[in-house]
Amino acid sequence: DIKGFTFDLDGVITDTAKFHEAAWHDLADDLGIEWSAEIGNHLKGISRMASLDMILATDPQGKQYSQEEKQQLADKKNAHYRTLIATVTPDDILPGIKSFLDDMLDKGYTASVASASKNAPSILEKLELTSYFVGIVDPATLTHGKPNPEIFVKAGELLNLQPSQIIGLEDASAGVEAIKGAGQTALGIGSAAKTANPELWFDKTENLTLNNIKKQLSV
Ligand code: G6P
Ligand code: MG
Repeated sequence: DIKGFTFDLDGVITDTAKFHEAAWHDLADDLGIEWSAEIGNHLKGISRMASLDMILATDPQGKQYSQEEKQQLADKKNAHYRTLIATVTPDDILPGIKSFLDDMLDKGYTASVASASKNAPSILEKLELTSYFVGIVDPATLTHGKPNPEIFVKAGELLNLQPSQIIGLEDASAGVEAIKGAGQTALGIGSAAKTANPELWFDKTENLTLNNIKKQLSV
């Protein structure tokens, strides 16, 4: 039986995925690297440095950057990103998520956060959702990013549950792969998540309810 949930943050709880994308797009423009919607989708769930490496790898001129230059570019993106999230309030919680969290806690389920973002704790504070979760995995402690299962394994340990008792929620295909690798049941939200074939799938957060999950599980 399902007893808990491991949550991705960006694109699941709040729409900060669009701010990450905007900040990366802006940096790519600065570097003269052409942007595509496809790369935007690929970057979902990918750590800051790995995202930068992916963007630089699409440069047809193949310009090389030193470690120090890359750190500066990553810092620049993060500074821009932080100005974009400065105005985040509880109104920015995606539709249906607050009622899902309330219902879930009411019924005795527990939840933790498996976000690759070092900004996750401050975003949860702005959304006034910190107390809904028993813990947040610190991405600085990870050896591997998504699609490696490590972050969901750790989020499951925070819940003190077996993988078979957990549903992981993700909007990124790398994230769905990570959930599956951790042995948890993957719940994908939106088109990017669908490509990794999650066991459960919702087109938008609005339709996310315990009842709809139960319906899909018993199919
Ligand atoms: C999440 C987002 C990614 C982001 C990563 C790192 O996984 O989906 O787009 O690159 O977190 O975020 P950070 O805030 O640490 O740069
Ligand atoms: Mg995400």
